[in-house]
Amino acid sequence: MTRLNGETARALAGGIVAAALAAHGFGCGTRGGESFGALEQDAQPIDRLLMGKASAYPADSSLRARLPQLDASIAERRKMAWAVVEKVVAPVPLAARAGSGPHPRLPRFQTWYSRDDVLPMFDQLFRALRASQQQTRARFDDAEITRAFAWNATMARSLTSFTETRRTDRLHEIGNPAGLHSLGKDARTLMSPAFVGHLLRSYPEIIACTIPGKDAAPTSDVNFAPCLDGEFPADAAAVKMRWMPASEPLPTYDTSQGALSKKLEAGDFGPGDGLATPDESAIYTMQLTPETSMRLAALHIMTKELRDWAWITIWWSNEPETDFGRDRPASLRALGGPWDHYKMCVVTAFDEKDRSARVDSADPASWCSNPYLEQGAGAAKTSCIGCHQHGGTGESTASVLADGARFPAHGREKVRANFPGDYTFTTSTGLDLASDFRAKVEALTSP
Ligand code: HEC
Repeated sequence: MTRLNGETARALAGGIVAAALAAHGFGCGTRGGESFGALEQDAQPIDRLLMGKASAYPADSSLRARLPQLDASIAERRKMAWAVVEKVVAPVPLAARAGSGPHPRLPRFQTWYSRDDVLPMFDQLFRALRASQQQTRARFDDAEITRAFAWNATMARSLTSFTETRRTDRLHEIGNPAGLHSLGKDARTLMSPAFVGHLLRSYPEIIACTIPGKDAAPTSDVNFAPCLDGEFPADAAAVKMRWMPASEPLPTYDTSQGALSKKLEAGDFGPGDGLATPDESAIYTMQLTPETSMRLAALHIMTKELRDWAWITIWWSNEPETDFGRDRPASLRALGGPWDHYKMCVVTAFDEKDRSARVDSADPASWCSNPYLEQGAGAAKTSCIGCHQHGGTGESTASVLADGARFPAHGREKVRANFPGDYTFTTSTGLDLASDFRAKVEALTSP
């Protein structure tokens, strides 16, 4: 079995991944000067080799013009959101295959990039600059970024510990569906190629960023993201997941109108209303190690098809045809897999313009929250867009929820005139790529 990676590995094996990252200069307190070849082989490069480059998100370029319609009608908004879910989970063919058999397929989002892909690509790109360009923090051009994606997809072969046997062993492990689903492991956050390309292109702004005050005017009419090289492109998309061990029963949540109202009143989804033990046909499952299987309880999606992003989340349900699952299109079921067991909510605006969808008549801010991902006091009564306006400012879920004076209505109200990280937490707080980029740049350019 190849080595664990991702969130679970960090929890189970603690130092292993940290050591691998430290080996190429991304760990805390390292100087970051070591060359990439020193990286010890872990699972991620071989998994990437088998997957190939991540699959681009096919953005719908007509959505921005439809925004007023989406904002004003929950039915239109949900139709759009199910179509996004469909594109995000659609099976896409992988690079590798066993013998002359068909290419195995994975849901598109699982081919996307984790932090463990981004950091080596950044290392590779920054090292390729001339010393004078490194000193002036020159921007990578698009051709260089394209080459970095291609390099990342096959870099496993250049690692000293790579052997053909390791590749075929891993290919053997992915011979059944649950094994196949473990490619890339259980990372919490994955990002589409356009999302990552924009982060790499934006490194000069990311490492130099001074967060403007909340009322500071945006840089221009087409750029409200001062800590990036402008806003993300429309095909930028990211997901955040909650994988839960299959060794334990899964808590279930009643989201019928009456039950949900009580939860919203309490502000907390609580520990669950029941327990379920769904099998692989009913919930998306990965075999992480011979002993450990993980169930995908929830998946958050953000896509820049809309300027303030489309915010969508799905969660597993033991009653998938009711309330938030009632309008699921047949085309999603036709994709195969257990995707017809998930319910969904969506927001596209700070204010809810469809009166029938308002959860709080005293406060018209929009709502969408996932019981498996937004947990703890106040988290049930949040909305994605409200909290994410603080992406890149150093705020966190806890700090937003704790301060009702600065962040009214559980953080749902719009309080900022600019959005330093274009609504994403990937540069600070979450993946904190700003610190990693900065450490690498400083290590390679200090005299
Ligand atoms: C109260 C704050 C808060 C709310 C509400 C919230 N998020 Fe997030 N979200 C965060 C933080 C903080 C991170 C980064 C840390 C982490 O991974 O938990 C994050 C990470 C993400 C990511 C990974 C990319 C990134 O920006 O780091 C996605 C995708 C995402 N959230 C989507 C959603 C969606 C969809 C919803 C609504 C259903 C939502 N979020 C609600 C705070 C929030």
